[in-house]
Amino acid sequence: MPLREVISAATIAGRVSELGAEIEARLPAGPLTVVGVLRGAFVFTADLVRAIRRDLTVDFLGVRSYGDATVSSGVVEITSDLGAPIAGRHVLLVEDIVDTGLTLRYLLDLLRARGPASLHVCALLAKPARSEGALPLDFVGFKAPDGFVVGYGLDGRQLYRNLPGIFVLEE
Ligand code: IMP
Ligand code: MG
Repeated sequence: MPLREVISAATIAGRVSELGAEIEARLPAGPLTVVGVLRGAFVFTADLVRAIRRDLTVDFLGVRSYGDATVSSGVVEITSDLGAPIAGRHVLLVEDIVDTGLTLRYLLDLLRARGPASLHVCALLAKPARSEGALPLDFVGFKAPDGFVVGYGLDGRQLYRNLPGIFVLEE
């Protein structure tokens, strides 16, 4: 399927540096755990933590919300839980893309119930028009382009995660 580049690797790198600085400035002092949502956010999380210059731990939450379809199933499934408790810690949840907001809403409820000191969200991409109700996105990399996007960790039927830029998949 043809791919059209919409955000270059260099543009992403510049924005990730800015996000790291924003996060450093705005997150409260104290123990911080950055939680990447697998698998789509693994590349973004790896770059983002290197742009945040303070002590932190990194953990991952495995989630499946789409299966292999390109339309939300509305069902969120935890495929792998955090490795350590987050009670009393500041948590930064890192998502690849917020579309309907279903996945994020589910994850925020799940994490909030574990008693973190604070809970913030950083999404690489957000489709604001489609999110159902107000979702607390504290940090956003880019407004999501129209269409189904792949690359930089995001997949289309499990492919394209290794592309360094972000592309629209043209059917
Ligand atoms: P939501 O629950 O509708 O907000 O969808 C969130 C999840 O669906 C994201 O974390 C992605 O894993 C996946 N997703 C949504 N839109 C896209 C897209 O355009 N490309 C790749 N994955 C997507
Ligand atoms: Mg995801």
